[in-house]
Amino acid sequence: MRVLSGIQPTGRFHWGNYFGAIRQYIDLQHDADEAFYFIANLHALTTVRHGGQLRQLTRDAAIDLVALGLDPDKATLFIQSDVPEVSELCWLLMTGASMGLLERCHAYKDKKARGVSADAGLFAYPVLQAADILAYDSDTVPVGEDQVQHIEVCRDLASGFNHQFGQVFVLPKAKVLAHAARVPGTDGEKMSKSYGNTLEVFEDPKAQRKRIMRVVTDSRPVEEPKDPETDHLYQLYALFAGEPAREAMAATYRRGGFGYGQVKKELADLAEAFFAEARERRRRLEARPERIREILGDGAARARRKAAEVLLRAQQACGVKL
Ligand code: ADP
Ligand code: TRP
Repeated sequence: MRVLSGIQPTGRFHWGNYFGAIRQYIDLQHDADEAFYFIANLHALTTVRHGGQLRQLTRDAAIDLVALGLDPDKATLFIQSDVPEVSELCWLLMTGASMGLLERCHAYKDKKARGVSADAGLFAYPVLQAADILAYDSDTVPVGEDQVQHIEVCRDLASGFNHQFGQVFVLPKAKVLAHAARVPGTDGEKMSKSYGNTLEVFEDPKAQRKRIMRVVTDSRPVEEPKDPETDHLYQLYALFAGEPAREAMAATYRRGGFGYGQVKKELADLAEAFFAEARERRRRLEARPERIREILGDGAARARRKAAEVLLRAQQACGVKL
């Protein structure tokens, strides 16, 4: 199994990103024959339009991933833009990508529907994503539900190219991540940067505790029994609690006679303890920028070797290599 996935550095990682994606990439590094994980800064450029900010978010994303357990000896970690072969491959795929196919892609379609003017980068976003995947002969792409459409586009583009020019690309499969469906945010909607309802993985615990205490809850009387499964505060609690604590909390909900404030306090304690080790690792890494540079440098070199091989195959097949 050759695993590949990317994550955009469009903001600091939140619990939705961690439980919905990052944790599972990290687990997969042990099962894969090869695992490539990259920080999709070229994709992020479609939304982050400030150089200093993008640089900082990219660097933070790399440190965060290693602090959270991505092991550079097991997986190849790199920055998307450090592999220029991908951008070249993107052009080869762009020719032959039908406008209709891209018009149906949700990132572009949703923006257009909201009346926001989209640029060509956003329109071509799925083609670059396809190049990311195909450049490494990846066969397994772990992603959240929201990305399944992009993997389908990748398969379409790859099979179209193969059909036209011969067997060049490996057709990948999406591996839809458990939990990826929805971690709720502080307002009960899906946790997302764009809704401003996130709880960040590496937020200062004190500040985070305050924000957890402000998680929106209903105003039903304390004594009323409640259904834990439909309660977003319980869903957040369940992310961190072990089985016995989860069961006990669910029983408390069903019985009634508890205050949401108590649940919030317990949630804040659990979350702080859960990320304590990662926070400490992050603190140490942050103090060693040369180590991060080395990890990303090694990762980029390994990624480029593979991407150069695939790009050459594609160039030869379509006749742009004499
Ligand atoms: P955001 O919605 O905050 O902009 P991204 O789209 O950058 O987050 O998310 C990157 C990945 O993290 C997604 O593909 C998805 O797998 C996962 N993810 C994001 N938000 C959630 C969530 N609320 N619940 C579960 N997974 C999520
Ligand atoms: N579009 C993905 C997201 O927003 C990030 C991404 C870019 C990606 N290239 C990829 C994911 C290649 C998987 C494979 O989450």
